Amino acid sequence: MSIFLAIESSCDETAVAILRGEPGGVSEVLASEIASQIEEHREHGGVVPELASRSHSLSLNGLVEQALSTAGIAMANIDVFGATMGPGLASSLLVGSTAAKAMSCVSGKPFVGVNHLEGHLLSPFMDRTEVPRHVGLIVSGGHTLLMEVNSAGNYTRLGSTRDDAAGEAFDKVGKMLGLPYPGGPEIEKAARNGNSRAYDFPRSMMQGGELDFSFSGLKTAVLYTLQKDRQAKLEDIAASFQAAVVEVLVDKTIRAVKLVRAETVGISGGVSLNQQVRNAFIERCDKEGLELVIAEGSVCTDNAAMIGFAGLLKYFAGKIDGLDGDIDPNLKL
Ligand code: KG4
Ligand code: ZN
Repeated sequence: MSIFLAIESSCDETAVAILRGEPGGVSEVLASEIASQIEEHREHGGVVPELASRSHSLSLNGLVEQALSTAGIAMANIDVFGATMGPGLASSLLVGSTAAKAMSCVSGKPFVGVNHLEGHLLSPFMDRTEVPRHVGLIVSGGHTLLMEVNSAGNYTRLGSTRDDAAGEAFDKVGKMLGLPYPGGPEIEKAARNGNSRAYDFPRSMMQGGELDFSFSGLKTAVLYTLQKDRQAKLEDIAASFQAAVVEVLVDKTIRAVKLVRAETVGISGGVSLNQQVRNAFIERCDKEGLELVIAEGSVCTDNAAMIGFAGLLKYFAGKIDGLDGDIDPNLKL
C-alpha cells in the first residue's frame, strides 16, 4: 500500500490530492483540494501567466496542509510525491513541481513527474483496478486529443487539433458573445434557450477518415454571423455553435473507434462536463454497442486526483524520476 501526494499547477487551478493504492487494486482518493483562480483572471478575459504562478505559490502551502488534514495523514506517512511536469504554463508548472521535489528531497521519498494529459486520459477509469483497452478523447481548454490506449502507459495518438482546442473555441466564442470567462459553461447555459438549427455552422475536416480537428473556421463563422446579423439571438448562436462542436467530437471519436476496433470509449477534460456532449456520446455509443466511460464531474476540469492516479500507476510500473528532471510546457503524450 502506497500513499501518494500529488500537485497540479499547470494552468489556473492550484490543486493537491492524496491517494492510497496498491498494484492491481483500486486507488482511493483520500483528499482532493482545489483553489481556483478563475475570479482573478476573469477581469482579464483569460489566464494571465504571471498572476497564475504567483497565486499558485501563495495557495500551495495551505492546500498541502488542508489535504493532509482531510486525509488524516501525517506528512511523514507520504510514500511518494508527484507533480504535473507539462504541458502548461512554464512558470506555473515550476511552482508545483519544485514544491513536490522539495518535499521529496527533504523526506527522502521518491518523486514522480506526471504528464497532465495522461492525468486527463486515465481519469475516467479511476475507480477500476485496470485501465482497459479503449479510445480516449480528451476535450479540455488546452487540448483536443484522440488516443488509442492499449493499457496504462501504452498510447498511440490518433488525432489532435490543428488550431484551437474545443474548450478554447468555447471560451473564444463566449468572449465574442460578451459572456464571462470561461465561456464553456456560459454557452451551455445560453444554449438551453436557443435553437441549435438556427445557424448551419461549419463542421470542419469531416471528409474521409480524417481524425484531426479544426475549430478556428467555426469560430470565424460565428464572428461573421455576429457582424452580419445584428439581430442574431445569442441563445441561437450558442446552441448552433455547441451543436457543431458536439457533432464533430462524436463523429471523429466513433471513426477512431472503428479504425482501431476498440470496444470502449473514455471521455475526459473540462468540455466533457457539457451535458449535450455527454448526451450525444451516450446516445451514439449506445447505438454502436460501445461501452462509454465519462470522467466523474469532479475530475473533468483540472485537479490533482487525476495526477495522483496517473502518478501511482507510473510508480507501480517502476517509473521514478530524478529531482533534476525539467518541466516541459509543450510535453506531448
Ligand atoms: O480540463 P480543463 O480544466 O482545461 C485544461 O486542462 O485545459 O477545462 C477547462 C475548459 C474551459 O475551456 C471551459 O470553458 C471548458 O473546459 N468547459 C466547458 C464546460 N465546462 C468547462 N465547455 C463546455 N461546456 C461546459 N459545461
Ligand atoms: Zn487540463
